[in-house]
Amino acid sequence: MQAVVQTTSPEATEEWAARVGRTCVGGEVVLLVGTLGAGKTCFVRGLARGLGHAERVVKSPTYNVMHGYAGGRLPLDHFDAYFVRDVDEFARTGLFEFLAEGHVAVIEWADRFAGAFGADVLEVRLDVVGETVRRMEFRAMGEHSRARLASLGLPTTEVGS
Ligand SMILES: Nc1ncnc2c1ncn2[C@@H]1O[C@H](COP(=O)(O)OP(=O)(O)O)[C@@H](O)[C@H]1O
Ligand SMILES: [Mg+2]
Repeated sequence: MQAVVQTTSPEATEEWAARVGRTCVGGEVVLLVGTLGAGKTCFVRGLARGLGHAERVVKSPTYNVMHGYAGGRLPLDHFDAYFVRDVDEFARTGLFEFLAEGHVAVIEWADRFAGAFGADVLEVRLDVVGETVRRMEFRAMGEHSRARLASLGLPTTEVGS
């Protein structure tokens, strides 16, 4: 299931991400795909807010693979896959145990490890359309993610249709 939305400001991208955050109950994986500057980290900032984390600095954890945000309604684990070589590197951070404990995981550059994060995932593809315009494509795989995407109220289509 797929849905597309265009945003015209970082705040608007954050707001959609916050809505996604509010659909989480723990154990969700959000995959972020998009070039440098597309808005992946901006999305994480909104996601954190939607998970009940107070306003604070969210930046790419590029050089330490994972940055965990405790507290909030649900803990958030923020990953950057850019310099990760294999899935074991994710596993060693505790990613899968954290998910089982009810954390939410968000992974920048996730397309480098397509399929490694289970069958029920929400993928967000960000594309630069203009200086302040971004195209966001949501792709939900699995029942839980599909239901969450449907609850955002955007018009949805089936992938490939
Ligand atoms: N509509 C928009 N949505 C998200 N970011 C935007 C938008 N318009 C401009 N920007 C800018 O684009 C940049 C996105 O940076 P960032 O989120 O760090 O990207 P990435 O993590 O994908 O490299 C920020 O400087 C942000 O202010
Ligand atoms: Mg980033």
